Amino acid sequence: MVRERGVDLAQPPQGGLFRKFVVLIVFISVNFAACVSERVAPERCLIWGPGLNPDVVLPVRYFVIQAVDSNGEKLTVSPGRDTFKVKISPLDKKEHIRIHVPPPLDRQDGSFLVRYRLYGTVLNGLTVEVLHQDAAVAKSPYTIRGPVYHEYCDCPEHDASVWQGVMQCPAEEPQVLADFKSFPSVDLERIRQEVPHRFVNRGGLIHYAIIDNKLYRRTLGKYTDFKMFSDEILLSLTRKVRVPDVEFFINVGDWPLETRRSDAVPVLSWCGSTDTRDIVLPTYEVTHSTLETMRGVTNDLLSVQGNTGPPWINKTDRAFFRGRDSREERLHLVSLSKKNPELLDAGITGWFFFRDREKHVGKAPLVGFFDFFKYKYQVNVDGTVAAYRFPYLMLGNSLVLKQDSQYYEFFYSHLKAGTHYIPVKRNLSDLLEKIEWAIQNDAEAREIARAGQSAARELLQPSRLYCYYYRVLQVYAERQTGRPTRHADMELVSQLDDHTAKCTCERKEEANMKDEL
Ligand SMILES: *[C@@H]1O[C@H](CO)[C@@H](O)[C@H](O)[C@H]1NC(C)=O
Ligand SMILES: *[C@@H]1O[C@H](CO)[C@@H](O)[C@H](O)[C@H]1NC(C)=O
Repeated sequence: MVRERGVDLAQPPQGGLFRKFVVLIVFISVNFAACVSERVAPERCLIWGPGLNPDVVLPVRYFVIQAVDSNGEKLTVSPGRDTFKVKISPLDKKEHIRIHVPPPLDRQDGSFLVRYRLYGTVLNGLTVEVLHQDAAVAKSPYTIRGPVYHEYCDCPEHDASVWQGVMQCPAEEPQVLADFKSFPSVDLERIRQEVPHRFVNRGGLIHYAIIDNKLYRRTLGKYTDFKMFSDEILLSLTRKVRVPDVEFFINVGDWPLETRRSDAVPVLSWCGSTDTRDIVLPTYEVTHSTLETMRGVTNDLLSVQGNTGPPWINKTDRAFFRGRDSREERLHLVSLSKKNPELLDAGITGWFFFRDREKHVGKAPLVGFFDFFKYKYQVNVDGTVAAYRFPYLMLGNSLVLKQDSQYYEFFYSHLKAGTHYIPVKRNLSDLLEKIEWAIQNDAEAREIARAGQSAARELLQPSRLYCYYYRVLQVYAERQTGRPTRHADMELVSQLDDHTAKCTCERKEEANMKDEL
């Protein structure tokens, strides 16, 4: 390395002056090497996160490494994407389990996100080594005592409060509280009649019952393919925690349904609106990408954190938008962009809803999502409902300009306009003004972007998603009157029973023993 090269240089010294010169170079380069390696002080770095706790079972486990220098200061810029190496292996070499550990994601702010997916359950446990060059980082190696269950192991924790504690679920979810204000009690007999009767022609409804932690369902309506998303999360949840017996309807269509102010019925939907009384769940988009992280999806809420484009100062000082023509304001955005190209770069990449306007507006080539972050400002305009890219935009390090909207997702209530993003009028009449403000107030704009990103990292972590689903079902179950029932036309939605699901669940044995006593 640098030191060795210095020694090589010092080898053929002829004459005093040259030698002094070489010594000086060696001195400088050794000093430089010392200075670089001291920037990250391996033993002072910090490591934390649910991925170090065996009881936090998630599709992909994760933890954070914060780089710290020898003065104990946290680094705020990247020390280089290859700064840390992570090795994860079974404690017992006889346990052969596939573990996928991609390189840590460089979040460009001195922190790194480590992800790993287990393809089997490890009974004895795991060892996690984190290295900087060859030195152990923080308290590495970490021992994660087994059993460490993998995603497909059907092994629910029977005591839900224990599970919520392990997952560090928040004590309250304000959106859940707000949504259930309309439903102090849920009369099962009534909703079995009324929900199908009123909403069956509105797209797709899935009628679920969870009884003894087993999932049953029947489908109602024409468009029910999206049940794959609700099935997969409910199965995943019941593998991790015992869910109370509960019977409910999930609306798998785009729009929320219940517009009544009084006598409303509870329907669970992926998107909420201020005009409706639906109970919001995390969108199928966020849910599926969390379940399939490092498997079937390319953009997910973790990988986006390592692909946020150039540092702030290197981003283009312009607002950016690409998307389909799913709402008229998006076309308006393109015309604003044509008149003000120095402020805004907007284009429609797919035509479906307003095809007759394509020849006037034009079609822009697709841009990979991670390339959005070459721009400092991101415009978020609704699609048919809330734009489901919003969580991903918030996780980047650009400033989000969000169109005012009656639509919302499960986490919006934690975000404040002006603190975490910049609000823009629904008709976009103040958009250009807001972009100009951001350009002229760069430090403030950057701070809002940073605050938004930091809130999104907390709110959109996989563990919080599971907490949220559980909380909705728990509050719902507490308010049910009548008995949740598997109806004759409901089928069992079963857990996988192929080799991927194979595991020995020690919790089940404990629970059985308790039952026998
Ligand atoms: C950012 O811009 C500076 C010059 O302003 C340049 O030196 C640096 O290499 C750029 N960094 C990246 C990551 O593009
Ligand atoms: C845009 O909406 C605002 C209200 O939010 C209204 O005052 C304004 O007149 C509208 N502008 C246009 C051009 O329609």
